[in-house]
Amino acid sequence: MLSSVFFVKFMFILCLFTLLNLCVVCVCVRLLVLPAPYLTRTVANAVATMASEAPHNFSWVEPHKLAGLAMPRMPGHYQYLVNNGIKHLVTLSERKPPYHDTCPELTLHHIRIHDFCAPTFDQIKRFLTIVEEANTKGEGVAVHCLHGYGRTGTMLACYLVKSRKLSGIDAINEIRRIRHGSIETREQEQMVVQFYQQIK
Ligand SMILES: *[C@@H]1O[C@H](CO)[C@@H](O)[C@H](O)[C@H]1NC(C)=O
Repeated sequence: MLSSVFFVKFMFILCLFTLLNLCVVCVCVRLLVLPAPYLTRTVANAVATMASEAPHNFSWVEPHKLAGLAMPRMPGHYQYLVNNGIKHLVTLSERKPPYHDTCPELTLHHIRIHDFCAPTFDQIKRFLTIVEEANTKGEGVAVHCLHGYGRTGTMLACYLVKSRKLSGIDAINEIRRIRHGSIETREQEQMVVQFYQQIK
């Protein structure tokens, strides 16, 4: 008699204990499992936005289509480009920029030009094709060398010659108005003028 009462009490407590455990497990699952992807995404976005920083000497030449900049130096610089709709980075310096592999959303195109030299016709055409194909898909392009003025300015001026049908001199002046100090050598100036004469 005594033992059966004890047994019922024992079973009752066991049931309560099991139910309580189930509740604890449910709450844990809701707290830990469900919000995890959401939290990860939110934190990743916050970090990316905070880390994004404008690269040196960045400016648009044609808003949302083509920009020039100095060599990116930090992962946040690449993030800034991506956050501004830029999907293609054209490198004109001999070496690829540091940390370029930290941003898989950005495609790197390497057109090697020695410092203070001018691009060749083929290099200009290759550059303009990259810009044209990207812009057709609504994707922005950014171009850089070391400081973003000599080789970069030359390419940007050639872009204006083609896209706005400007003369070489007018294109050079327009790029210098937007980006002071652009197109640094006589050879680079002459290349823009020759490019205009070649395609007009
Ligand atoms: C940005 O442009 C200025 C002016 O030409 C230049 O002195 C500076 O070195 C450039 N910054 C970088 C990081 O290249």
